[in-house]
Amino acid sequence: MAKYRIAVLPGDGIGKDVMDACRIVLDKLELDAEYLPGDIGWEFWCTEGDPLPKRTIELLKKTDCCLFGAITSKPKEEADAELTPALRDRGLVYSSPIVRLRQEFNLATNLRPCKAYAGNPLNYRDDIDLVVFRENTEDLYSGVEFYPLPDEVREVLCKHQPKMKRFNQVAADEVAVSLRIITQQASRHIVRKAFEYAQQHGYKSVTVVEKPNVIRETSGLFVREARKVSRDFPDIALWEANIDAMCMWLIKNPQDYGVLVTSNMFGDIISDLCAQLVGGLGFSSSGNIGDAYAVFEPTHGSAPKYAGQYKVNPTAMLLTAKLMLDWLGESEKAGCLENAVAAVLREGKIATYDMGGKSSTLEMARAVAEKL
Ligand code: IPM
Ligand code: MG
Repeated sequence: MAKYRIAVLPGDGIGKDVMDACRIVLDKLELDAEYLPGDIGWEFWCTEGDPLPKRTIELLKKTDCCLFGAITSKPKEEADAELTPALRDRGLVYSSPIVRLRQEFNLATNLRPCKAYAGNPLNYRDDIDLVVFRENTEDLYSGVEFYPLPDEVREVLCKHQPKMKRFNQVAADEVAVSLRIITQQASRHIVRKAFEYAQQHGYKSVTVVEKPNVIRETSGLFVREARKVSRDFPDIALWEANIDAMCMWLIKNPQDYGVLVTSNMFGDIISDLCAQLVGGLGFSSSGNIGDAYAVFEPTHGSAPKYAGQYKVNPTAMLLTAKLMLDWLGESEKAGCLENAVAAVLREGKIATYDMGGKSSTLEMARAVAEKL
């Protein structure tokens, strides 16, 4: 029996393209793993009314971790329109499968390293080495949303928060409410993970990115917890920044920062910004990590217009496999893989279209495999 059982969910769009690339590299590394393919993505929403079928959840439960490609998420109206006719008007609601996986498996840490590899023509600067720690289960992603706004909910909100009265004249179907739920427990947890990472990898500071001057309760709570946790790490400085200013500082002086920690929505936004600083989503890997399970996925989406063309840059997916190897404890293989990716980028002979080259997804993966 193989040492690891790994669920493989290519998803849709270019998910399959990058997953094929990933397998070339994992096979060359001779990872002792059994790969179990599973269904996820837009196709299963359209035909079964669920983009994350129960059989896939069951499959994941039987594995050590999961490698995930990409999936399409569309707004409500489009999602409803693409359902097979037999499934329409049944009140089915599309919700992002990756967000569901994060919550159902309590994958509380979203780890997103963004490093400028030498030779990458898309680097914003060559001295960038950022790591985003994004809380992964709550905040505006909690899914506690109201539309139309039920009278009872409005009454309760008015009773407890006078500021709500300003919206009293607005009709129920002219207002939508999404709750930003932030718990002490999850805030503490993500901040601790960020500090532990900083300690293990030699970073001198952790920057907590929130907006407590305006979003006083939720961001306030997050920052308070960050301060408490930071006391356990006297050698690492805690810097505090507001999300808006942080976006500016990251453009101005990205080289000054290392580990960033923030809540779910801000982390979503800022991790795209950080990714662009090191070449765009084609270079940005991520791990959704819980205590007992983890799902590894490139930060990019499914880019449907390139699906099946084997054109997109597989680097994000390959670096995602590197994160998985780290998590599995295969640090030697992880290091080899990162070095091989770095070597290919440094030489610059093989480059995908986003880098101004003509190499295909698989050519890039083979070049990395050759370096191993
Ligand atoms: C990400 C993506 C997801 C998110 C989408 C696809 C639901 O943007 O992983 O950053 O918003 O978290
Ligand atoms: Mg995102």
